[in-house]
Formats: sequence, structure tokens, C-alpha cells
Amino acid sequence: MTTVDLPLLPLGRGVDLGSERGVECPGDLPSPSDPDLVARAVAAKEALGSRVFVLGHHYQRDEVIQFADVTGDSFKLAREAAARPEAEFIVFCGVHFMAESADILTSPDQKVILPDLAAGCSMADMARLTQVEDAWAALVEAGIADEVVPVTYMNSSADIKAFCGRNGGAVCTSSNAETALEWAFEQGSKVLFFPDQHLGRNTAVLKMGMSLDDCVVWDPHRPHGGLTVEQLRDARMILWKGHCSVHGRFSPDTVDDLRATIPGIQILVHPECTHEVVLKADLVGSTEFIINTIEAAAPGTAWAVGTELNLVKRLAAAHPDKRIVFLDKTVCYCSTMNRIDLPHLVWALESLANDTVVNQIEVDPETERWAKVALDRMLALPGKTHKD
Ligand code: 13P
Ligand code: SF4
Repeated sequence: MTTVDLPLLPLGRGVDLGSERGVECPGDLPSPSDPDLVARAVAAKEALGSRVFVLGHHYQRDEVIQFADVTGDSFKLAREAAARPEAEFIVFCGVHFMAESADILTSPDQKVILPDLAAGCSMADMARLTQVEDAWAALVEAGIADEVVPVTYMNSSADIKAFCGRNGGAVCTSSNAETALEWAFEQGSKVLFFPDQHLGRNTAVLKMGMSLDDCVVWDPHRPHGGLTVEQLRDARMILWKGHCSVHGRFSPDTVDDLRATIPGIQILVHPECTHEVVLKADLVGSTEFIINTIEAAAPGTAWAVGTELNLVKRLAAAHPDKRIVFLDKTVCYCSTMNRIDLPHLVWALESLANDTVVNQIEVDPETERWAKVALDRMLALPGKTHKD
């Protein structure tokens, strides 16, 4: 049976719906045009000193990233959060699922703050716990649940991670999806992978040697996922029908156009791009991998980068000796990542400096316990780290 669930954006804890949806910020939010904002952020950070640690995901705006104590992809930031037991406050400049993971990986007396609670992720919203439970029930009914290992991309809510922890599965990120799938296929003969079908398919086919026929797509909006029992039994990878609304927009035609206009250009994309785009690319990897690749590239080389625009613009500015272009003609910011702006960061830091904790992200203890099991399985994976 398919359960009808609430609308998207399952942010916060339902205690202040107005602010959780980002409609208004409960506090004295400075105007974005306020010329004193940078000075106010510096002063608030100084006042907090070592009590605060600011994490910045690579997709954050320049105005925010300048205040990050460390920048990284979601894997690196999860590790950095876990490695800061001395910080009373972790201010997470990223999106909701990342802040939840930081809360899970930090100690109970540390507080994780998301400067704007409306900074969600449309992909994470595409897999709700009730939908995943429905899919699992179908696998039980088909008599194959015992063989299936659930693997969730980091871009998912804490209750989905907890589902994986409870059912013998793990979390992965774009840095370690291959290692995580290798681990999963040692535990069982099939994987249920959510929410990003593209990361799942790209990893299974291009890194693990599977064929497209080994993969089926479970559509949570169709009865029985739109699949027959036979299709489920035959599949090795059961991919969730979810995607990134930013990376899903890059097209293979653009790759062809760029190759025709810029001789020698190399195409470097994130694995959330569609399989067709990734097939045409020269290199594919997480945001951290993309940065490392550009840094190591020879002067004079040309690159088209298929990931979020804030990062691509920063890379282009930092490497004037290389030609770096965005792999699309249209602007492609992640709108939810961009919810974190300097006014919200200043508001959060000043509130903390005045001993008022705002926008704390707290995962309930039972969810945290099982989500941590799935996250710890990921952190214990051998081999590859974000540096590879
Ligand atoms: P990374 O895992 O590369 O940080 O990517 C996170 C993300 O949200 C990509 O869209
Ligand atoms: Fe989510 Fe895509 Fe934005 Fe990443 S870029 S946070 S996957 S919507």
C-alpha cells in the first residue's frame, strides 16, 4: 500500500513553521545591503572565539565562505564536525541534511546551528521515510528483503539514515559511493539505493562494472514503485527515482557544443549529473575531487565544470592561468544552498555571542542512534577518502 505523506521540505521540528520555511527570521536580521555586515560578522566571530566553529560547503556564496573555518564536501565536513569536540557551537553553512549529520556525529553538549532553516535539499526531500518503508515492505513481500542492503546518499534526512542503520545498511557520499557499494555487495546480493538515481547508476555501471539492465528504478509515486516482482528479483541495483534539481539540468548536448568550440577542453562533472552527461565527461567526482583536479591541472588547460555555480565561479577566479567555464548556458545556483547568506550568518553569530541559541538542528535520540550506526559504517569504510 502506498502511504500519502505530507508535502516536501521536512525541515526543523515543527515548532516554528514560519521560520522553518524561511518566511521570516525570528530575530533582528540585518538588511542584505547593510555595509556593516562584514564587520559585524568578524566582531561576532571574534567574540565567540574558540566556542564557535564554522563549516562551509563548497556551494556556499563567497560572502559566507569567507567566514568558514574549514570548507569541504559533505564527507569532509562530516568528518570535520566529528573532529571538533572542543567547539560549543558548530555553525553549518550548508543544507539541512548536512547539519543533521553534524549533530549526529558531535557530542550531545555541542549545538549545531543552520543559519536559515529553509536551507533544505530538493533531492533529500524526494525520499520520505514512509515511502522508503513502503518500498521495503514490497521487497519483504517479494521475498528478497534479506538479500537487499539499503544504502542512502548523505543527501537524505536523518530518519532515512536511521532506516539504513536499522536494516544493515550504510550512508555514502559522492566521495565514497564506490567503496560503499563494494561493502554493500559483500553484505548482500542487491542494493536499494536512495535518493539519487544518478549517483547510484553512475557508480554501479561506471565503477562497479554492472550493466544498465542490472538497474531498475523504483518510483515512489507509482503503485509498487512501477515495478513487477520479477523485475525486483532480477535487479542488482534498485535505484530510487530521485535526482538533484541542479545537476540534473546539465545536458550531453552542451558537452558536444563545448568540445566543438574550445579545442582540448576537458569535461569535469559531479556524479549527480545524468548518466548521459557522465558518459561524455572526461572526469567525474565529488566537489572536493573537482577542486583537487583543477588545482593540479597544468596552466593553459581548459575545463568545463558541471557542478554548482558558486563553486565554478570561485574556481575560475582562483585559477586565472587556466580556462574554466561553467558546463551550461543557463545559471544554475542551488537555491537552497544559497538561502544561507551573510545576513543570516551575522544574525546566527550575533545571537550566539549574546547567549541566544537560534536555529539549532537536533535529531531525536532514537533516530540519532540508528543514523549514527549507518554513518559510522561509512566512516569506517576502507581506502578512499575525499583526498583520493
Ligand atoms: P558533495 O558530496 O560533493 O559535497 O555534494 C553534495 C551535494 O549536495 C551535491 O549536490
Ligand atoms: Fe541538494 Fe542538488 Fe542543492 Fe546538492 S545541489 S544541496 S543535491 S539540490
